[in-house]
Amino acid sequence: MNALHRDLKRLVDRVEAADAPRVAADPHRQRYHIQPAVGWLNDPNGLCKIGQDYHVFYQYGPFDPNGGVKHWGHLRSRDLLHWERLPVMLYPDAPYDCHGVYSGSALWEEGTLFLYYTGNVKYAGDYDYIRAGRGHNLCLATSRDGVTLDTKQCLMTNADYPAGLSCHVRDPKVWKQDGRYYMVLGARTLENRGEVLVLQSTDRLHWTHINTLTTREPFGYMWECPDLFELGGQWYLAVSPQGIDCPNVYGCGYFPVYGDWRGEYTLGDFHPLDMGYDFYAPQSFADGDRRLQFGWMAMPDAPCTTPDAAFGWNHCLTVPRVLTAGPGGTLRQNPAPELAALRSPAALSLPGGETVSGPACFDLTAAPQGDFTLTLAGGLQLRYEEAARTCTLRFTDPAIAYGRSGERSARLTAPCRSLRVLGDASSVEIFLNDGATVFTTRYFPAPGPRPIRLDGAVGLLYQLNGEE
Ligand code: FRU
Repeated sequence: MNALHRDLKRLVDRVEAADAPRVAADPHRQRYHIQPAVGWLNDPNGLCKIGQDYHVFYQYGPFDPNGGVKHWGHLRSRDLLHWERLPVMLYPDAPYDCHGVYSGSALWEEGTLFLYYTGNVKYAGDYDYIRAGRGHNLCLATSRDGVTLDTKQCLMTNADYPAGLSCHVRDPKVWKQDGRYYMVLGARTLENRGEVLVLQSTDRLHWTHINTLTTREPFGYMWECPDLFELGGQWYLAVSPQGIDCPNVYGCGYFPVYGDWRGEYTLGDFHPLDMGYDFYAPQSFADGDRRLQFGWMAMPDAPCTTPDAAFGWNHCLTVPRVLTAGPGGTLRQNPAPELAALRSPAALSLPGGETVSGPACFDLTAAPQGDFTLTLAGGLQLRYEEAARTCTLRFTDPAIAYGRSGERSARLTAPCRSLRVLGDASSVEIFLNDGATVFTTRYFPAPGPRPIRLDGAVGLLYQLNGEE
């Protein structure tokens, strides 16, 4: 442990203790979603299972609810419902990561946790920090108990990446397959095109660039947080592209990959993963036979805000979602089945056309047969029109939106026959047609009972028992 590490650790402990009462006083503090103890949270990182325990790391800015230099926060859970906070795993305490321990992923093997991440360095001077002035280093940290850091080192610097790239090369996602290790890295070229580098290794330390994945036509200037995985025989490349034409500031979705991503391939159509206001930089991992995904429930650089920063914290992750293959190279996302254990034993029936006083944390299900409108907290509306097969989310009360303006609309590929909505103190996740279309948003209703109204369908409403 170096001296900076020791002092940063003390400072984090101090700020977490000092700000805890202010954070706890926030009525919009979530009950069953992962959120930072204090300060800022962004991308999920290092998702993995060690023995029977799930580990979630996240981009953590403990000193500033509006950002600050990034650390890796850490949580552990047996059941995906109750999360134990563990000490910060990675601090920005080395010359190769001193301006932020940026996003990355985990490999658990031979009794060691290997954490691959990007060390962000900004050099002092008059730079654009895109083509010059920035180091994005590929770094590796190890831990034998999954909680305490043993080693940390820099494996590659910008000089080791292929020619033609800007300084923006980050977010390693690593996995093992057929006795080899593979990595995808998000990149921005000098021509401002987004792409993904594929690297290969036999020893986890030395990595060789073997391919580059991109679209035939340029699609945005940077692809952040790549994820490459197979489900039901189909490969998918998930990315968060910046600079594409989309309803939010940045995009977030996936391409089906046809052919061989190690050689000749083509990327199919880009599908957004989420149609709401707040979803970015998801990461997935294999949990036995299933694939689980967490996303960041926010959108970087967006004009919208939250009231939470005034209480000393900001942002949360989505619930864990199971990814499955849908028809025609599509993906489905559904809440992990574990979440049903939070349901109250008895469900309240939600009669069509009546307003019910609902709990803040709920799990609503319905099987609509035609047009319906769901209105939450009197100001967040989801409207489905069967004739156009269109679903639209909008805030009718700007007081609960904190700048989330304009409608978000999705055309469904089939008539809407299933609806599931997970509500927490300040978020809503909506799953339509068995997770074929998803809308995620934060919302900030005033404290007190929350009206829930479903017009055009009959629903079942479970109260959810969260903890925080
Ligand atoms: C995505 C991102 C990543 C980066 C991290 C820094 O939200 O910009 O590309 O590694 O956040 O916090």
